[in-house]
Amino acid sequence: MANEKPFLSDIKTLRDRARQHLEQGALGTNYGGDVRKAIEILQSVLATELVCVLRYTQHAIAAHGISSEGVKAEFSEHAKDEWEHAQAVAERINQLGGEPNFNPEGLATRSASQYSQGGNLVELIRENLIAERIAVDHYRELVRYFGNDDPSTRVMIEGILKVEEEHADDMHDLLVAHEGRPMLNK
Ligand SMILES: [Fe+2]
Ligand SMILES: [Fe+2]
Repeated sequence: MANEKPFLSDIKTLRDRARQHLEQGALGTNYGGDVRKAIEILQSVLATELVCVLRYTQHAIAAHGISSEGVKAEFSEHAKDEWEHAQAVAERINQLGGEPNFNPEGLATRSASQYSQGGNLVELIRENLIAERIAVDHYRELVRYFGNDDPSTRVMIEGILKVEEEHADDMHDLLVAHEGRPMLNK
């Protein structure tokens, strides 16, 4: 058949290329953007998510007060979401040929959001609202950064962003419920 040969040689070319660039990770050489920069950014996203896991988990356990039960449940729910985000980001770093950095040393420095503990219920809610807003702003920028150069990473970040917006909304509602008025403009 006339077109069998080019088809086979195409496959061979692809395979040869894949073999030659095994060290570049699962995606090979057709990555549209700067892969090193992408990995570096995602390491920071991973750290951000891990700090959020730690902060929400601590708050879910340590929150106290007469009306804390619903808030604790919400913190706990968010901690689970943040852990899922961390895992998805770590998987993506791995696909891009990087090694996801879970090292606790320097974690707070790599993270965009801050760790905090202590304070009354309203202070805890406010800290989480601030952290969510930082994450939302950061991830919106990243959606624009990845754009069409890396649609897979962009789509992942968009999915995470949607959840962070819901988290921010939840924290805002809790703040209003427990303080009677919003401390920050919604
Ligand atoms: Fe998250
Ligand atoms: Fe969040």
